[in-house]
Amino acid sequence: MRFHVMTLFPDMIMNALGESITGRAMAKDLFSVNAVNMRDFANNKYNHVDDYTYGGGAGMLIQPGPVYDAYMSIRENIEKCSGKSKKPRVVYMTPTGKTFDQAMAQEFAREEDLVILCGHYEGIDERVIEEIVTDNVSIGDFVLTGGELPAIMIIDAVSRLIPGVLGSDESAVYESFYDGLLEYPQYTRPPVFMGKEVPEVLLSGHHQNIEYWRLEQALIRTKERRPDLYKTYVENNKSKLEKLIKKGKIKLEL
Ligand code: ADE
Repeated sequence: MRFHVMTLFPDMIMNALGESITGRAMAKDLFSVNAVNMRDFANNKYNHVDDYTYGGGAGMLIQPGPVYDAYMSIRENIEKCSGKSKKPRVVYMTPTGKTFDQAMAQEFAREEDLVILCGHYEGIDERVIEEIVTDNVSIGDFVLTGGELPAIMIIDAVSRLIPGVLGSDESAVYESFYDGLLEYPQYTRPPVFMGKEVPEVLLSGHHQNIEYWRLEQALIRTKERRPDLYKTYVENNKSKLEKLIKKGKIKLEL
């Protein structure tokens, strides 16, 4: 998979993703990130890409020209790599977009090329957004200074779904079984920390009981912290959960 990020701060993108798991995966060519500096497409000697907003108001707006030219250079690059000339999916990071979630990450992971457009200042001229953007995406109900951190988050969440990026295939198993629940608590050595012991079942070696315990803990945690997710999970898994409760495998009131 190839990510193409349209930004005024390419180092922010490359420095963050060059570390740790994503960095190692890129070194292994499991995916690539191409951060394109829209300033390189400015058409004035000062390399300015922003200007005042028509109608007044505070702040500067990124002009449509450099955004469009950067987009076209990415399309050329994609065509060279893939041999195909189809319009790529272009995700604009904006607090006015649809909220990003795991289902969206899975959908994006099916793309061969994903273009991510990062705004800065007060945003981008609407006409070029209408022309090139396929998805408006927010990472939550708060406003950041730019789309770079959101873009890094999207690439992180999508790239870990690419086969081989995570060291083991454990995550896929985890996701199918616990899909829609928050993760259960986990423990490592030492067995006693500040007087607190690791739950006994985890030391038992009894894999089935450990699975039941983890499901129970995930349910308890989700019910407490994210009642919205809990409600949906119980609706979708009612008969399975009722059976487990009846058999005494998990202790919980639905
Ligand atoms: N740019 C600024 N704030 C943002 C947010 N919450 N999500 C996506 N892009 C943004």
